[in-house]
Amino acid sequence: RAKVAVLISGTGSNMAALLYASRREDCPYEIVLVGSNDPAAKGLKLAEAEGVATFALPHKGMKRAEHDAAMEAAVLKAGADYIALAGYMRILSPEFVSRWEGHMLNIHPSLLPKYKGLDTHARAMEAGDSHAGCSVHLVTAELDDGPVLGQTPVAILPGDTPETLAGRVLYAEHQLYSRTLEDLVSRPFSADWLLEKVGALALSLPEAE
Ligand code: GAR
Repeated sequence: RAKVAVLISGTGSNMAALLYASRREDCPYEIVLVGSNDPAAKGLKLAEAEGVATFALPHKGMKRAEHDAAMEAAVLKAGADYIALAGYMRILSPEFVSRWEGHMLNIHPSLLPKYKGLDTHARAMEAGDSHAGCSVHLVTAELDDGPVLGQTPVAILPGDTPETLAGRVLYAEHQLYSRTLEDLVSRPFSADWLLEKVGALALSLPEAE
């Protein structure tokens, strides 16, 4: 099974969804580490109780590159070959990201490319959208910008607040994330597969000699 490290900053409900999906005998991945930049992140306690190794290192007072290097060392020590960001609220250094390109996923609470960044649900509501939703994408150096591998739209209801909407989008996130991660780890990484998956992606491949 593919070995996955999950990085969180808070509740960790997506991490829990990934973990419980991995209990299925035929699930093609296992969670080998849950890491966090916040030692108080609720999800760490759950991971510990479920027997998953954890690593927590507060980022305060550390340079981004130093903090990333320590997180990456923990990920490598755990033997992970994929990283799933699940509510990890830190921007990663480009060096870290480029080393894991094609092997690092993020879940974002909007229908990308709409509403990158924060306050996604309030922005979807203000724009009068009929649907909000969530996306799982490969992580690249630009924030919330990598190839989208899966999306689920979620209707915005009359009387919704950003919080009630976020709650419903979370149900969709929990389904989408494990499905997309299973999909990714089940296939050998190839540009062909990526092209098929993300459609007309402008991949510039070097010319053969
Ligand atoms: C999720 O809604 C996730 O999409 C979002 O944070 C929440 C984490 O919840 N991520 C981002 O906003 C990333 N920019 P969880 O800790 O319960 O999984």
